[in-house]
Amino acid sequence: MPRAPDAIVVGGGLIGCLAARALADDGRRVTLFEQGFELGRKASTAAAGMLSPQMEWAEDLLVEGAADLARRTDVMLDLGIAARARWPAFAAALEAETGRRLHYREEGTLVVALTDDEAAELEARARMQRRRGLRAEWLDPSRVRELEPGIAGSARGALHIPDDRQVDPLPLMAAVAEALAARPGVRIETGTTVRAIVSAGGRVTGVAIEGGARGEGGTAEAELVVLAAGAWSAGIDGLPRPLAVRPVKGQMAALRPGTMPIRHVVGGRGAYCVPRDDGRIVVGATVEQAGFDERVDPAAVEALIRAAAAAVPALADAPVESRWSGLRPGTADDLPVLGEDPELAGLLYATGHYRNGILLAPLTAEIVAALARAEHPPVDTAPFAPTRAGLQGPAYRE
Ligand code: FAD
Ligand code: GLY
Repeated sequence: MPRAPDAIVVGGGLIGCLAARALADDGRRVTLFEQGFELGRKASTAAAGMLSPQMEWAEDLLVEGAADLARRTDVMLDLGIAARARWPAFAAALEAETGRRLHYREEGTLVVALTDDEAAELEARARMQRRRGLRAEWLDPSRVRELEPGIAGSARGALHIPDDRQVDPLPLMAAVAEALAARPGVRIETGTTVRAIVSAGGRVTGVAIEGGARGEGGTAEAELVVLAAGAWSAGIDGLPRPLAVRPVKGQMAALRPGTMPIRHVVGGRGAYCVPRDDGRIVVGATVEQAGFDERVDPAAVEALIRAAAAAVPALADAPVESRWSGLRPGTADDLPVLGEDPELAGLLYATGHYRNGILLAPLTAEIVAALARAEHPPVDTAPFAPTRAGLQGPAYRE
């Protein structure tokens, strides 16, 4: 039997893997349990890989616009901007460490307006973002055509966000898994499901597990447990209170146009398009409350492609290379769950990252590592506390 680790990480998606890596970098012995047979095969490789807090913020407000939503999206925007700032150094370090290319790109995003109402909304968003000190420029139709001739000639303009980024989640996850496996002090146990958090006297003592190298069942001890089980986080027993994390399905497609019509990530009403270095364009994504159903519905994907083609016409007849889906870990207020449990010492939450888990992963790992050292995290985690009022609702179990 291996010696008890200092920390256990539940879940081997991008969030769990980077948290485990950060804990190991602090000299801790870490065991990561992943119920699947490979790391990162759930939301983390289903994602589009946009590192685009400004685009997400503009789109959310475009669709909904309520006052409370505005406050929440402001909190998310600040978190997202802090997270985005980590990416250049994070990507460079991971590429240098593994020798793998992540296809991290810095062209920025364009949010296209196809109607006059959308143009007015997006122009207002550009002004609001500039007032917050962010770069956001409204482009009239002629400047859109200059910058990105592949965008529909009927576009009424576009919000240009030069500082948003993107990364390809598949090579990213491969590099992260390789870097983690090479870390001294890290043990990765795939095919192993964590059934429950185990505690005594208000402190975490470990987890109850099933499957994998440990056989039918047993416990693993540690004084620190990081809950990073994505959309499945609420299904783990032994939490101090129900955790309102729920699956939010996203369906996607990869298209391969004959020539690449865009350089920027292009967003718009109903779809986004992410150009990849290998000639594909990833089109996403549906947002569905469908429980843990991960099946792909060709009709839903077809509707996405139509929405994408309204902004980038070359996509209308581009061959569809693949379709897939993933489950985002959503919460009632769309904010992640980050921080230590106030009633169960040693239980750290790193879940509920919803539509931004790729963007937020390096920052989340820093937060986890700081909390494990009993230091102030690099950003205020109070709005993301597991006990916050906005985190209400049923606990979803598969
Ligand atoms: P996951 O990657 O789902 O990993 C959780 C892991 O925990 C899984 O491997 C699972 O098997 C394991 N697990 C679950 N329960 C247990 C258990 N009991 N025991 C052991 N292991 C367990 N984010 C962005 O930033 N930019 C984007 O452009 C973007 N696009 C997206 C598009 C789509 C279609 C989807 C679905 C998501 C997108 N996201 C995006 C969101 C992002 O993918 C997620 O927020 C992020 O991947 C969450 O990472 P995670 O590690 O928490 O979850
Ligand atoms: N952030 C993109 C998505 O979740 O679809």
